[in-house]
Amino acid sequence: MKVFEANEKNISTASHIIKGGGLVAFPTETVYGLGANGLNATAVAKIFEAKNRPTFNPLILHIADKNHLEDISVVVNHIVYKLIEVFWPGPLTLVLPKKEKVPEIVTSGNPTVAVRMPDHRVALSLIEKAGIPIAAPSANIFGQLSPTTAAHVEASLKDKIDMILDGGGCRVGLESTILQVEESKFTLLRPGGVPVEKIEEYTGIIEKKEIISDAPVSPGQLPYHYSPTQPLKFLDEVDIESVDPLKTGIIYFSEKKFDKNFSSVKVLSPTRNMYEAAANLFSHLHLLQSQKLDLILVERIERTGLGTAIMDRLQRAAAKYR
Ligand code: TXA
Ligand code: MG
Repeated sequence: MKVFEANEKNISTASHIIKGGGLVAFPTETVYGLGANGLNATAVAKIFEAKNRPTFNPLILHIADKNHLEDISVVVNHIVYKLIEVFWPGPLTLVLPKKEKVPEIVTSGNPTVAVRMPDHRVALSLIEKAGIPIAAPSANIFGQLSPTTAAHVEASLKDKIDMILDGGGCRVGLESTILQVEESKFTLLRPGGVPVEKIEEYTGIIEKKEIISDAPVSPGQLPYHYSPTQPLKFLDEVDIESVDPLKTGIIYFSEKKFDKNFSSVKVLSPTRNMYEAAANLFSHLHLLQSQKLDLILVERIERTGLGTAIMDRLQRAAAKYR
């Protein structure tokens, strides 16, 4: 039995699971979320594996206190204060520049992070007890419908997560509205629980991009799709003797293979743990990108479990340079 009534005792247990790096499905006013410690990259990686996502996708960080928005993001437009006064807690997600402490895997390497404060007793209590922002996509297997009851979650994810908190049906039943905030511009990325017209009363006319839908999108279609600024190639695509090690960074899966003085050498997971590998992927890529290299070499990873999503991401990054 993994489904527990969402009383204070069980919410406490759930908060310990989250703090310990586990996965808990919990109700919000929109849909059930699949939550993990949003500041722990390895815990967040487990979300992607449980959902069986073939790709990484940036996640929403859920907070229980409006004052915590600025712990994880930068408020670049003062109208945000009005929006959170009016619409939080509630189904409005704000995309803002991220602070350093937000792991790359949460944002899929984007410089921005999505944040919302859900309007649900159970969600708020769980986040508060855990004492950290909770990263949570909808609690369904990739490609399936979003869950609005604990039974939906159980049918889809039961064997893959540690606990399901049952808080009854979701009041809104539709995901949050996602609004990207820039210094002088607001952009609607996904229509949702708060009608855009209501938001426009405070922001003026909002540009509508609606790039986010729950339908699977083709690889590379998303504008926030991550690729490093210099060429990335797989190890087996190059003649290792012909590369200049001083201008090359290399990312191995579990151990060093070549005895050359590469400018930067990184290992995704010495213990061949896919969670750890996924958690390190984005930060390693970012680090190598920040060094003045001519080439990033990456070892191929077996396409099992999270390996599929890792390889998808790398393949897209490499495709740009073929
Ligand atoms: O109502 C909701 O928003 C629910 C509940 C659980 O809070 N969550 C939800 O999460 O719908 P998810 O992961 O299914 O959808 C979040 C969407 C994704 O399509 C993702 O691409 C987008 O938000 N997103 C997240 N961070 C982003 C960012 N930094 N920039 C642009 N889009 C972002
Ligand atoms: Mg979803």
